[in-house]
Amino acid sequence: MSIDKKFIEQFHIVSSKAAFAAFDLIGKKDKIAADQAAVDSMRSELNKIEMKGKIVIGEGELDQAPMLYIGETLGTLNGPDLDIAVDPLEGTNFVANNLPGALSVIAISEKSNLLHVPETYMDKISSNTSEQGVVDLDYDIQKNIYNLADYKNKKPQDLTVCILDRPRHKEIIDELNKLKVNLKLITDGDVSGALLVTDKIYEVDLFLGVGGGPEGVLAASAIDAFNCNFQGRFIFENENDKSRAIKMGIKDLNKKYELKEIISGDSIFCATGITSGDLVSGINIENDEYITETLITHKSSGLKKKIKKRFKI
Ligand code: FBP
Repeated sequence: MSIDKKFIEQFHIVSSKAAFAAFDLIGKKDKIAADQAAVDSMRSELNKIEMKGKIVIGEGELDQAPMLYIGETLGTLNGPDLDIAVDPLEGTNFVANNLPGALSVIAISEKSNLLHVPETYMDKISSNTSEQGVVDLDYDIQKNIYNLADYKNKKPQDLTVCILDRPRHKEIIDELNKLKVNLKLITDGDVSGALLVTDKIYEVDLFLGVGGGPEGVLAASAIDAFNCNFQGRFIFENENDKSRAIKMGIKDLNKKYELKEIISGDSIFCATGITSGDLVSGINIENDEYITETLITHKSSGLKKKIKKRFKI
């Protein structure tokens, strides 16, 4: 079974409108309001779609947030069962502070084909190598870099690694510096970071490090449509996190998830730019229209493209 192509356009509209909803709040120093605007838009647009959609990755769990919570059903309920992962505003700081790289992101899979994840951190790695065993979450930094350099017929100093600039990554960054690898340090937004390995134009060979688990699954949903690799392992900081994960059906808390275990079957992914970043351009206003740019993938039809779309304001 595959997800009908007609849904591509519909989810494209969902992420575009959510991006526009947050656009008004760029530079207003209010990340909560910006997030809320994107969430509200996404929710009302999703409810117009002829589907029985279930949020598997959302803006919190039922007890935490009343909007787009995990387990919520959306759509007209006439149509296929779809699992939905959303990050209506990826890069809340970017919008609040008018910085590059804010996105509105949604991923859809066939029912039960998208990993249900709690809101914990995830150790992640992605690369544009389709072969298994070149890079691996279980290898140390040196082995990953040497293997990747060999595989690409490059020297370590010719490789670029993207990683969130966080104190928790100090050891990794020190090690990468020792190996003379080029760094692309990002302040936020690791959905985009992980996706920079998908095309040579971004000049990123490897993405790694610890970021949000939901962001990891979203990135993996797009990476699955490219000939790239992604692995993730959850990091649970306390007993509460662990018991929530167990409740969500995660049996082995230390499991390393391969791409196919995160997403399988057909999928659609849409990431619309709010502010311009590495991946896509932000929203442009022309007279009474706004123009969005969205990276869209549809696994079964092979679509992987950035598409601009005009909307009446
Ligand atoms: P928000 O948009 O929810 O603020 O997330 C931004 C982000 O940078 C994600 O891309 C990333 O996965 C996560 O935060 C990293 O978390 P932390 O800031 O705690 O290191």
